[in-house]
Formats: sequence, C-alpha cells, structure tokens
Amino acid sequence: MDMTQVNVPAETQTATLHLPGQPPFDMAVTVGTENEHAFDVTQLRSNTGYITLDNGYGNTGSCTSAITYIDGDKGILRYRGYPIEQLAVNSSFVEVAWLLIYGELPTPQQLRRFRQLLTEHEMLHEGLRHHFEGFPPSAHPMAMLSAMINASSCYHPELIENDDEENFMASAAKLMSKVRTIAAFSFKKSLGQPIVYPHPEKSYCRNFLHMMFSIPYAPYEPSPEVLGAFMKFLILHADHEQNCSTSTVRMVCSSGANLFASVAAGVCALWGPLHGGANQSAIEMLQKIYASGESVKTIVEQVKEKKFRLMGFGHRVYKSYDPRAIILKQALQDLLKRTGQEDPLMDIAMELEEVALTDDYFISRSLYPNVDFYSGLILRNIGIPVNMFTVMFAIGRIPGWIAHWYEQRRSGGRIFRPRQVYTGATERNYLSIEERNGCANDLGCDAAYLRGI
Ligand code: CMC
Repeated sequence: MDMTQVNVPAETQTATLHLPGQPPFDMAVTVGTENEHAFDVTQLRSNTGYITLDNGYGNTGSCTSAITYIDGDKGILRYRGYPIEQLAVNSSFVEVAWLLIYGELPTPQQLRRFRQLLTEHEMLHEGLRHHFEGFPPSAHPMAMLSAMINASSCYHPELIENDDEENFMASAAKLMSKVRTIAAFSFKKSLGQPIVYPHPEKSYCRNFLHMMFSIPYAPYEPSPEVLGAFMKFLILHADHEQNCSTSTVRMVCSSGANLFASVAAGVCALWGPLHGGANQSAIEMLQKIYASGESVKTIVEQVKEKKFRLMGFGHRVYKSYDPRAIILKQALQDLLKRTGQEDPLMDIAMELEEVALTDDYFISRSLYPNVDFYSGLILRNIGIPVNMFTVMFAIGRIPGWIAHWYEQRRSGGRIFRPRQVYTGATERNYLSIEERNGCANDLGCDAAYLRGI
C-alpha cells in the first residue's frame, strides 16, 4: 500500500507530501525558465524526520543555475541560452569562455581585454616549471594536471586570499591560460622533448597546438581544418551543467575553497572512465576491436551479454542523440575529407553506431553515441596521443568549471553536506582482542603485540 503521496497542483506552486502518521507537509515549487519543476525539500528532515534517497542523484537538483540548459529527451544543449550548434559554427573558444563565465557574449573591448589577460598569464613561473622534474616520465597527464593546478595557486597567494571582481577575472584568466601551458609541458615531458614556451602573438588554440607540436627550429603551424576541428572540440566540451566533475567543483567551492583547489578536484573527478576518461576508453576499445579483427556484430553481442560497456555510448541525461556527438561526427568527417586522411577506427565507429542504433538492447535503453564517441577520433587525427585525451576534455571544461565556481561562490549557498541512510551495525560493545574469534590464547596470540604495546 502506498502511503506516501506527493501532490503538486500547478496553480498553487506548492507540493504537498503525505507521509504515514504525519500531517501534510507543504513544499515550495520552483519553476525554471524552461519550465522545469522541482519541489524544495530543504525543510523536510527538520519537519518530518525523513530525508530523500536518490542513488546517483538522478533526481536531485543540487542548485539553481543560469549557465547551461540541457533537454536530454530532445537532444538540446544551450550555453546561456545560445544553441550549441550556433556557437560551434560562429564563436571562438575564448568568446564562449567569457559567455559562460559572465553570462553575455563579450563586447569587442571585453574580448580584447580577456585575450590580453590570457596572453599575460600564459607563462609558468620557473619555480613551477621545475615541478615537472619530479614526475616520472610514465606519469598520467591527468595526475600531473591536477597536481600542477593546485601547485600553481601557491605562486599567486593574493588570488586565493581575495576573490573580488578584479582578482576573480585575473584568477580565471590565469587558470585558463596556465592549464593549456601545463598540459603542453606535461606532453613534452612525457616525450622527453624540450619544453616549447607559449608565443604571445598566437591565439589561444593556435598557441596550445604550437606548444604541443613545435620543436626547436621546426615551428608547427596547424592547418585551418585542424584548428577548426580543435576549436569545435573545446567549445563543445566547455560546459555540461551538473555533471560529476562540475558538481565536484561546486561542492569543493561550497566549503569556501579557492578556484584553483576546486578545479583541481574537478580534474580528478573528470578522469574516471565513466566521465571524461571515456574518450580515452572509447579509442582504446576501437583499437582493440581493430587489432582483434572481430566483427562489430560479435562485439555488440558481447556488450549485450554485459561483458563490457560500449564506451562513448549512453548518457545519464541524453535519452536521444547527444547533440555534441552530432557536431563532432560531422567535424571529424570534414577533417578527414579535407586533409585526405583515412582512419580505420572511424569505419569501425560508424559500423558500431549503425549496428547499435538498430538493436533492441540499445533502443530500449535509449543508448546513443555521446560526446566521447567521436571526440577521441578527432583528437587522434589532430595528432594528440591517447593518454592526453582526457586532459583535452579538461582544457575544454575549464570555462564551465570557472563559471560554476563563480555562480556557486556568489550564490552565498550553504556548504554541500548530503545525508545518508545508515545501514551498518547498531550499537555494540568493544571486544578485547583475546575475546575475538580465531584469536584464543591457545593459538599463540600475543595480545600485547597485537595491541601495539
Ligand atoms: N554500453 C552498454 N550498456 C549500457 C551502456 C553502455 N555504454 N550504458 C548504459 N548501459 C546499460 C546498463 O547496463 C543498464 O542496463 P540494465 O538496465 O540492463 O541494467 C542501462 O543501460 C542503464 O545504465 P546505467 O548505468 O543505469 O545508466 P547511467 O545513467 O547510470 O550511466 C553512463 C550513464 C554514461 C555512465 C553509462 O551510459 C556508461 O557507462 N557509458 C559508457 C561510458 C561513457 O561513455 N561515459 C561518457 C559519458 S558522456 C561524457 C560526460 O559528460 O561524462
């Protein structure tokens, strides 16, 4: 018998919860600008003793936010109201960063100022540069990135102590600019090549590719196709509302932690293969399929038997085609066509997509390609090594993390502190070591030794 009911009469904008043996409990309803409804459970526990339980937070709004809107059923993604399809074609990554952080497209003066700041802050302090020497050549670039972001804040204590508007803009520019330099330096370190310093006259994306691929006396100049595909990649990764890493950034921020510490935590959350690490896993999966020579049909059967997941497929929010995957697939096809490159992994990916999208297992679970299915193929065809893929995602996501940190900080919200339903042992008395199973004195237990005396 269901004794718990929630009634939400739209006209009153109040939801009423009926719990067994309790008077009705009214909760305010919040309606977003895209008509999303939520009832506010902030006072639930103090008034009823109940909490909500939501494994994986699929139904929990941790904040209100004006940054990014997703409609997962319709495949819609908008930054500050602007459709991602328009931004991917018309905008630049730096412009999108400003839009996400400050809410409006920048004026020419604002864009110029922001670009200047990015150039001013592109160098790493020499002391910080020496930190790279401490990492072994096999260190994963995501570990280096997270550590170096935190380390870089040690060189700018003034930004940590004070986050007024001027300092915030400097922090945002420093972080966005230095992350690119750190990523490229860690790549050079892994190759054992000399570090290539940033070039102040190059734009954000061009400068990054220069630091990655130039070598002394052989400067690298990306083709317009490569530059365009890379810029699209970054724009499409710039924000995605309350995903695992962004929620991590907001959670760390809620304790009062500074921007650098919060974003370093976000990098760690992104690393996992179910999140940003999926772009690396997706390519590794395609490489394995290619090397094994197994048919795509066999692979799909194995996925259906739950032997492994199809990486780059499925999404918590999108129950239709991820709009970012549509744009990246097209960008990849354009890149390959214009450069005349061929990639056997692209053929496997397209076949996998075709087989999966006509199979009932995938249809019934609404599993479509997500952003990571084609993004790795773009990176690979630009020349980025596989272990740097998730770092590329992080570079793209930095503006989103900054925007969410800023929104969270300015909201004056409470520290994030979820509850739990405890399922462990109830109260019990301490047992001395002699009293515990398997440790009787006749077995030769030295109680004093075990107690560490
Ligand atoms: N391949 C095969 N089956 C899948 C997949 C997949 N990629 N994703 C979900 N399923 C199945 C899952 O086994 C479950 O089946 P059943 O109902 O029989 O138990 C059902 O679909 C629902 O899965 P779920 O784990 O409850 O879904 P979720 O919303 O918790 O997980 C996800 C979302 C993205 C973690 C998951 O789809 C996944 O693991 N995908 C592969 C990893 C990946 O590509 N991650 C990148 C996400 S996009 C980038 C980002 O923003 O992070």
